Amino acid sequence: MQQQILILTIVVMTLVAYPFWRVVRTSQHAPQPPSPAGRIERMRTALLASLAVTGLVVAVATLRPWPHDAHAAPGAQIVRAVGYQWYWELDTEEVTAGRPVVFEVASADVNHGFGVYDPSGTILFQTQVMPGYVNKVKHTFTEPGTYRVLCLEYCGTAHHDMIGEFKVVAAR
Ligand code: CUA
Repeated sequence: MQQQILILTIVVMTLVAYPFWRVVRTSQHAPQPPSPAGRIERMRTALLASLAVTGLVVAVATLRPWPHDAHAAPGAQIVRAVGYQWYWELDTEEVTAGRPVVFEVASADVNHGFGVYDPSGTILFQTQVMPGYVNKVKHTFTEPGTYRVLCLEYCGTAHHDMIGEFKVVAAR
């Protein structure tokens, strides 16, 4: 399915890009009128090019760390979590602070949202929980305490009761 969507996207993008490419090509072949403003035009082109390069550099440099290594955490603690209507099943009740934890979340029925809250009730991170997928999210807890998992996707009458809990303990 994803393969078909990818191919479809490439085909549609090609179709959309074609008219632009035609315009660029034909404009390059149009005879250039001799212009005393040639220097200004060159400066404008240089300015545009430098803006484009600057934009690209800034965009790449300010990207948040790539999430590609989300589950490549050597020595990580793995917590498998399954969402049910309407409760969480975590295979671990305790994780250690200061070491990465990889949550592998799945659903046994419908879509849920896996939101992790610190002891003060502030959300730390969340990920979607979908039937047929295992979503992974990595987090390193720094503070020991009791953390809660709240469902962040409306999943039926007792959605609000879908609360899980685990403890973060200090490293020994
Ligand atoms: Cu599960 Cu809302």
